[in-house]
Amino acid sequence: MSKVDILLGLQWGDEGKGKVVDVLTPNYSVIARFQGGPNAGHSLEFNNIKHVLHTIPSGVFHPGCLNLIGNGVVIDPIILAEEIHSLEKLGVNLKKSLKISKKAHLILPSHRELDAASEAAKGKGKIGSTLKGIGPTYMDKTGRNGLRVGDILLPDFKDRYNFLKNKHKEILRQYNYSSNIEQHEEEWFKGIELLRQYDLIDSEYEINSYIKQGKRVLAEGAQGSLLDIDFGSYPFVTSSNTICAGACTGLGIAPHAVGEVYGIFKAYCTRVGSGPFPTELDNEIGEKMRKIGVEFGATTGRPRRCGWLDLVALKYAIMLNGVTQLIMTKPDVLDSFETIKVAVAYRVNGIETDRLPYDINTPIEPVYKEFKGWMTDISGFKSDSDLPDELMAYIQFIEQETGVPVRIISVGPNRDETIVRE
Ligand code: GTP
Repeated sequence: MSKVDILLGLQWGDEGKGKVVDVLTPNYSVIARFQGGPNAGHSLEFNNIKHVLHTIPSGVFHPGCLNLIGNGVVIDPIILAEEIHSLEKLGVNLKKSLKISKKAHLILPSHRELDAASEAAKGKGKIGSTLKGIGPTYMDKTGRNGLRVGDILLPDFKDRYNFLKNKHKEILRQYNYSSNIEQHEEEWFKGIELLRQYDLIDSEYEINSYIKQGKRVLAEGAQGSLLDIDFGSYPFVTSSNTICAGACTGLGIAPHAVGEVYGIFKAYCTRVGSGPFPTELDNEIGEKMRKIGVEFGATTGRPRRCGWLDLVALKYAIMLNGVTQLIMTKPDVLDSFETIKVAVAYRVNGIETDRLPYDINTPIEPVYKEFKGWMTDISGFKSDSDLPDELMAYIQFIEQETGVPVRIISVGPNRDETIVRE
């Protein structure tokens, strides 16, 4: 028997999960995505080429590794087909290395339209949706209306599709939203044809049999813990459970089958879209982080909001996930900052607290601890013994506060810019 290790983001997404999964893949036989959809944009870089994956797990560039899209994921056949074609152009043979759960739900062209209509209707209260149809697809899943990947094998699939599309058209009429669903249908059905050529499986049986055979499985999260549908700053959240428990429901594994939980965080914080961000720097310091860290969404191109590391939020995420090992990314972005701050508590209504308030409109004043910046280019460093003392002091403080070791330090976007600590 083996265990399933889980790698997930501890902030608001974009922590660099794609890169780190790619680095860890040689230790695993299977990489499995368990939630979210093409709102994810996992960036990987090697041989000076950047690859962005939206639905396909980040193990694809390692021959011999099996990549599984679990039942908890929602799939847009158009985007998946684009991803498959661009990977095939690079010589990646997905027919052998990609398997897809029959129970994963399908994003229809009308889901995208519903996403746009719902976001437009929210006016000032916009969530900051990626408009990929993810939210409406999960709504149809829980509303028990959805179409699943396995349905494409049924003789009446087209009828089921039309039934759901017409339901959506009715809702769009109520929104008074003019849509053009049919424009994308031809491409969507081409995507369905392509899906039929892949191994569509009962992934819960398959993954449990891998565990029995002692194969090493890594579950790859998308977005971040602070965007979790239950524990994020609701309603400014994503539509799925991004925390560790989401890997159990999104893959069909029992809690006792979970091994290591790798929690990944940036040395500072970013957030895309709306919602509370206590340590946000809406000034030239935040602008500097955005510029050096190239903080623009991999999926939407939107500028990311930037701010200092928030230990209150990080500890919350560590608690929810039972993180056993921490992975820090992008400290190199702070190489030229003379002073670095970390929020160690919040002041809410004049009272200091180490908890996130329930009401997202509650004004929060972060209580900061200051660190001296290292003012050194760390991008070429290969071992933690080379790292500047100031950075090590920063890392040790995080370890002390969280009680969890920082096992990997990523010092650049490239595969080989990674320090694995003994
Ligand atoms: P989501 O699932 O969409 O949240 O994506 P993600 O967690 O995989 O992160 P994403 O790829 O969107 O963003 C991380 C960005 O930072 C990418 O452009 C990476 O190439 C880059 N990156 C990753 N690690 C490092 C690092 O240590 N230093 C620097 N400078 N860039 C990094």
